[in-house]
Amino acid sequence: MIDKYGREITYLRISVTDRCNFRCVYCMPEEGVPPKPHASILRYEEITRIARLAISLGIRSIRVTGGEPLVRKGLGGLVAALNGLRSLGLRDLSMTTNASLLAPVAGDLKAAGLDRVNISLDTLRSDRFRSVTRGGDLTAVLEGAGAALAAGLWPVKMNVVVTRDNIDEVQDFALFGMMTGLVVRFIELMPLGCAGSIQPASFVDTAEMMERLEPDGGVAEVMGVGPGSGPARYHTWPLRSGLEPSAHAAGAIHTVRDACGGRPVGGRPGAPAGGQAGAPVGGQGMAITTPDKALVGFITSVSRHSCPGCNRLRLTADGRIAPCLWSSDEIDLGAAMRAGASDAELTRVIGAAVMAKPLECGASRDVSKRRMSRLGG
Ligand code: 5AD
Ligand code: SF4
Repeated sequence: MIDKYGREITYLRISVTDRCNFRCVYCMPEEGVPPKPHASILRYEEITRIARLAISLGIRSIRVTGGEPLVRKGLGGLVAALNGLRSLGLRDLSMTTNASLLAPVAGDLKAAGLDRVNISLDTLRSDRFRSVTRGGDLTAVLEGAGAALAAGLWPVKMNVVVTRDNIDEVQDFALFGMMTGLVVRFIELMPLGCAGSIQPASFVDTAEMMERLEPDGGVAEVMGVGPGSGPARYHTWPLRSGLEPSAHAAGAIHTVRDACGGRPVGGRPGAPAGGQAGAPVGGQGMAITTPDKALVGFITSVSRHSCPGCNRLRLTADGRIAPCLWSSDEIDLGAAMRAGASDAELTRVIGAAVMAKPLECGASRDVSKRRMSRLGG
């Protein structure tokens, strides 16, 4: 599928619920979001049908998101059904999760066909974690990350939204990545939904994150694309002598390694993925995360938009296709499906959504009603 501006659309993010067991301050109101009527949420068979049609149009990567996808029952069944679409052209099946419910199911999800996970985690300090998530348990998340590594849901990426509240943890996160084999990516806070009011004061741009990571400017940009289909740019960060993780980070590293089976860190290129903390990340020729060199990603969602390379569509839990994260245009594919549309008709609707992708995100539009918990990140 090529859109009006020549971009090839190969990536579909599917939100399976807009509920979440956390209430991150920049994402959800304290009382949560009004639950969608159950009947409006797409059933797994409906999602699978849409995914099949999207693959027939050229989608090659699918990411399952939320809210928190693991709060929805029977998610392994959806993963297995999507995994069954590989013969039609699906190549990459991933999930974005807060990992708090991941540890007990990581192995089952891998067995059902999930390739890899991205984990959202903004702090390695349990007191901060409780306050940013309004009550979440950091240990459960770290155990989920370790279980993901152990299950071979690899590479396991860790998304860190950086604000004024956790900018002091940037080096800790890079050390944490280096010592666990997780690929840490630092993300700029976008002024969407709940973040709208806090973003101006809390915002930290990528340049400042890099400066914190390497005050002498030693962060080398990696040429070529990173692992995955998103807009992150990857840099290598070599360990400088004398730099040690804080006590919080050291505890977090320990918890991840323990949950991963206590394997020593240190993979080698070509080593099997399963259970290899510290195993290399990326394909042939890619930079790797090793015990003395971290691969860190930066997602400049605000300071530098990635519109020219945008390859994605989003499906909300209630069946609307959002052509762009920033624009409020949505196309109600679920309604068309429930009105009895044929595969050919639905395929046309998906094609129309691709053609509705704007050239650039309208930075001036009102984004306060665009909720990440609906749009799946
Ligand atoms: N800006 C940047 N990232 C956000 N997320 C949620 N809200 C925002 C925001 N306003 C992230 C979460 C998670 C993913 C689903 O989206 O931290 O990594
Ligand atoms: Fe839940 Fe993720 Fe939103 Fe936090 S950011 S409330 S974990 S969906």
